Amino acid sequence: MKNLFAGVLLLIVAQLFIQSKPGDQVPQLGKDKIEKVIAAMTPDEKIGMSVGDGKFLPAAVSKTTEQGTGIIIANQNSKLVIPRLSIYSSALTDGPSGVNRDPHPAGATEYSYTTAFPTSTCLAATWNLEMIENVGKAFGNEVLEYDYDVVLMPALNLHRNPMCGRNFEYYSEDPLLSGKLAGAMVRGVQSNGVGATLKHFLANNQETNRRSYNAVISQRALREIYLRGFEIAVREGGPRAIMTSYNKVNGYYTAETPELLNDIVRKEWGFNGVFMTDFDGYGSAVAKVRAGNNMLMGGSQDEVNELTAALKSKTLDESALDKNLVYNMELKLNSPRAKGHIPTQKPDLDGHAKIAREAAGEGMVLLKNENKTLPFKGVKRVAVFGKIAYYLIEAGTGSGGIRSNKYAISVNEGLKAAGFKVLKELEDGYTAFNANIMEQNLVPDYFNNPVMLANNGVKDGKAPGHFRKRLIPFHDEMPMSEEQIKKQVGSSDIAVITLGRSGGEGYDNGYFPTSKNELDLVRNVCTTYHAAGKKIVVVLNVGGVCETASWKNLPDAILVAWQPGQEGGYAIADVLKGAVNPSGKLPDSFPVKLEDVPSAGTFPGEPADNPVNSFYKEGIYVGYRYYDTFRVPVSYEFGFGLSYTTFEYSDLKLSEATFSDKINVTVMVKNTGKVAGKEVVELYLSAPDKEMEKPSRELKGFAKTHLLKPGERQQLSFELNSRSLASFRSGLSAWVADKGEYQIGIGASSKDIRLKAAFDLPEELIVERVHDVMYPNFAMEELSQRKK
Ligand code: BGC
Repeated sequence: MKNLFAGVLLLIVAQLFIQSKPGDQVPQLGKDKIEKVIAAMTPDEKIGMSVGDGKFLPAAVSKTTEQGTGIIIANQNSKLVIPRLSIYSSALTDGPSGVNRDPHPAGATEYSYTTAFPTSTCLAATWNLEMIENVGKAFGNEVLEYDYDVVLMPALNLHRNPMCGRNFEYYSEDPLLSGKLAGAMVRGVQSNGVGATLKHFLANNQETNRRSYNAVISQRALREIYLRGFEIAVREGGPRAIMTSYNKVNGYYTAETPELLNDIVRKEWGFNGVFMTDFDGYGSAVAKVRAGNNMLMGGSQDEVNELTAALKSKTLDESALDKNLVYNMELKLNSPRAKGHIPTQKPDLDGHAKIAREAAGEGMVLLKNENKTLPFKGVKRVAVFGKIAYYLIEAGTGSGGIRSNKYAISVNEGLKAAGFKVLKELEDGYTAFNANIMEQNLVPDYFNNPVMLANNGVKDGKAPGHFRKRLIPFHDEMPMSEEQIKKQVGSSDIAVITLGRSGGEGYDNGYFPTSKNELDLVRNVCTTYHAAGKKIVVVLNVGGVCETASWKNLPDAILVAWQPGQEGGYAIADVLKGAVNPSGKLPDSFPVKLEDVPSAGTFPGEPADNPVNSFYKEGIYVGYRYYDTFRVPVSYEFGFGLSYTTFEYSDLKLSEATFSDKINVTVMVKNTGKVAGKEVVELYLSAPDKEMEKPSRELKGFAKTHLLKPGERQQLSFELNSRSLASFRSGLSAWVADKGEYQIGIGASSKDIRLKAAFDLPEELIVERVHDVMYPNFAMEELSQRKK
């Protein structure tokens, strides 16, 4: 009896001891090996972490997740979702125009603003990797100090067609430029310890039916054009995350394609970060998990149910979840939060505003400058025309836009701040016109359709605050009579006309055709001012390529200011008055007309009213690769941009005349004008047309000088490696450089080739064999020079 009593007592004590120290038994994220932590998770917890990163786990109390705005993850705080294992969800926020969040969430006692940086197209036009990295540093600092772990940018889909609504979020029509810039941006952002996300992978080059359309693309075009930018950005930037796109490529949703995720990105490119899906896309959760997608975002109960049923029926093995979760847990452990960072909630907004202004100024492209109209000389009074001059479009709309910036400086405000006198009558007229648009239209034109309204939770016909802000960019120009214009001539020294348009997520409205009212305004102001011997400057506040051919002969100067972020008006005035010498160059070709675009006939797909398939029949001939090769005239060519000074290129030197494994190219650039300036120098390569046809030339390198004083020289250098020479041969599934003569063109633009040289490749070179995957699911005839 005694023994029994002692035995029971011992058991109770042992039990108590085990219960009192549960932490000793249960592995903890951050302390124990990730694999041990995952092994301690229940199947429900594994599913819970894979879908929405913990959103559906019972402990996850949704605090400030916004609904009904289309920007569903703003201000999502990190939450402890599996307290037992110390697992928390990652806090994500949107970009790329700035940290896009509600600056005054419910319960906040003060506003917490973020910087509206210049949009991606504007940044691309700088062609300045150092500058982009700097912007990234500032951007990432706001991510860090507002307590996010990961930002959902940079976005680098290709500018395949000027119509795409999200072009303002993307960089260029050229994959090398896009990839290098995105890589620099990632390095800058991640220097803060937070993660950056490349998106939308892959071929999300249109918004029409973006959740379902199937992009049919040849393996060559995929490798050389659509994958290439991402490949460069992964290799050079080392992003912590990649967001798969909504659409399908060659028959399968990108998020469900293991060949894409594993064979290409993980194995070939060495990516070891997280794959997350774009938010609430279609497809099968099981297929996404099996393909190796680590985070199904934003996550739905349906996905949880699907995965739960699949585990039960053994159509999904739990090990697939285990494998995926390793990356998710690593993402968490790499975050500043895991390293004990205490966010200040006070990033250096003044410092970042300076960076935003400098970058905006450097991204502006001077398209025309007759008789040295710019910079202003002897100008004191400016007649400021165009409604957009009084309402800057700092960025486009949707998740990649921005609504947490404190202000956006208009052209009119920028000119006033720079000391110019503006005309009161115009200012009052346009201000009243803009105010009226706001009052009259409770819902922006852009969102004036039932589906979009429903998607955005608009039930009473009234647009939410941050959408109302977008009214003016979508409304037509204020009509102005010749008499009204004539009244301004006497009291002004010069006219500045600002035209602009927004664009955004969910719609293919990125291209800016000139409306009748706009054309009338340009025509009448030009006629009236020229008659009085005065000049006219047109400023374009656009997210991407726009129509210029119908009116470009009329004004004396044209400046593309893009969507330049909150400091836009200041930066525009800096360039107009000459405090900044423009050094931006076009990251896209400006076609004469939209129908000239190589994808004009196939965009956005078939059937046209509800596209299911989008056939990328132009193949590799995107942008200048097409216009140049097929000799189609453009309004302004890729890589073009003027300066207030002139540059001379000389001393082109190649390290070898015969290629073995690389060639170094150097060139001397001299400022031959009267003011200081920077110059972008572009290296194009024309490869021999042997086994494979080649575009007439392709960008293979670029470099920008520092600010050269008049008379100052700088040597720039470029490196060509075997990949620079190679094209993708589908039959072999390899990057191959054809033997023969390679011609180098050193250009101030894709047409203005200043220096030439050549080198020889004596034997065909198989540079790299890769997985033979992702072939088109339709027979498709591609554009070819040989079939002409
Ligand atoms: C967009 C993404 C964005 C996500 C979260 C999606 O609809 O395509 O770019 O990051 O929403 O807001």
